[in-house]
Amino acid sequence: DTYVLIMAGGVGSRFWPKSRNQFPKQFIDILGIGKSLLQLTYERFLKICPNEQIFVLTNESYAGLVADQLSGILKENILLEPSRNNTAPCIAYATYKIAQLNPDANIVVAPSDHLILKEDVFLDKIQVALGFSTANDALLTLGISPTRPDTGYGYIKYQDGFEEVKKVDAFMEKPVLAKAEEYLASGDYVWNAGIFIWSAVSLKKAFEKYAPEIATLFESGLPCYNTDRESEFINTKYPTSPNISIDYAILEKANNVYTIPADIGWSDLGTWASLHAVGEKDMANNMINLNKIHLKDTSNCIIHLPKDKAAVIRGLDNYIVVDDGEVLLIYPKTEEQEIKQVAKDIVSEH
Ligand code: GDD
Ligand code: MG
Repeated sequence: DTYVLIMAGGVGSRFWPKSRNQFPKQFIDILGIGKSLLQLTYERFLKICPNEQIFVLTNESYAGLVADQLSGILKENILLEPSRNNTAPCIAYATYKIAQLNPDANIVVAPSDHLILKEDVFLDKIQVALGFSTANDALLTLGISPTRPDTGYGYIKYQDGFEEVKKVDAFMEKPVLAKAEEYLASGDYVWNAGIFIWSAVSLKKAFEKYAPEIATLFESGLPCYNTDRESEFINTKYPTSPNISIDYAILEKANNVYTIPADIGWSDLGTWASLHAVGEKDMANNMINLNKIHLKDTSNCIIHLPKDKAAVIRGLDNYIVVDDGEVLLIYPKTEEQEIKQVAKDIVSEH
């Protein structure tokens, strides 16, 4: 039986100032189509399993946002975390809880803030992955052909062959730039899409082997899950978990990782430049959100201003210009990985 875990607890700080602590990017209608990335993700997964088997994992401070945006989701399927401990603990919590409901569960774990343009291909690859994870003790991820030496992703080296599912030789999370450039040039790597497929049995085994502290912690909650003692257990114990992402905790270490290279029209939309890459642009390759913006000798920019704002810009190339009403950011697109830190510094100053 297939279950889906949508992770919606991140802050998305590289999308600052549009994405903030109080309103991270998965809740934003960043494409301007009337739906947030979370809503698009949820609708996509309704095509994979019944609503009762879709869970949303998020920080307790976003409980209201999730419930408002996903009117169809079961309230008991919104799992709330009392602290920010990254993705390994939230996945462990949901996995131990679901395995108690159904020991044979097959689980798809997905981020809530990605764009997938080729939905048919995506659904097809997920079915292939689910078939494989049912038959094998395997940890699967979808692999994306890299287009730039982005240091924000996991890089996967796989054994090429005729099969659609490839055995992974090495998984490197967020390499330094020189490494990312080397991997890109070699042509032997795909990016980790951050979409994982595995059985509850295989993942629990991996936690026990590679992250025993997390395994022990969430296993100790078994008497409480799916009872009225669950939230008390989570509120007291969850914050004591190691703070680590699933990529570092499991994927880098396990030797039963597989990938399915998948051309699904994927974009992480993790940063302004990634939004620029998929969005509609003018003749000079500018992406602008309003027609009250007048540009001259300006190219390759992303300009995102409040609705009632007019602007005149001349002589700017390859810049991010974002005004969310409170904060104005003007930053070279090439240095956008710094924005995460800039956002932190600014928030602590004000
Ligand atoms: N519930 C919950 N709790 N969700 C979280 C938490 C948390 O503590 N932290 C992050 N998330 C959510 C985010 O909202 C996002 O949807 C997803 O988990 C992934 O977290 P990110 O923080 O966006 O990870 P990343 O982008 O740096 O890296 C991951 O994704 C890349 C692809 O986009 C890794 O898996 C990389 O290997 C991968 O290439
Ligand atoms: Mg991300």
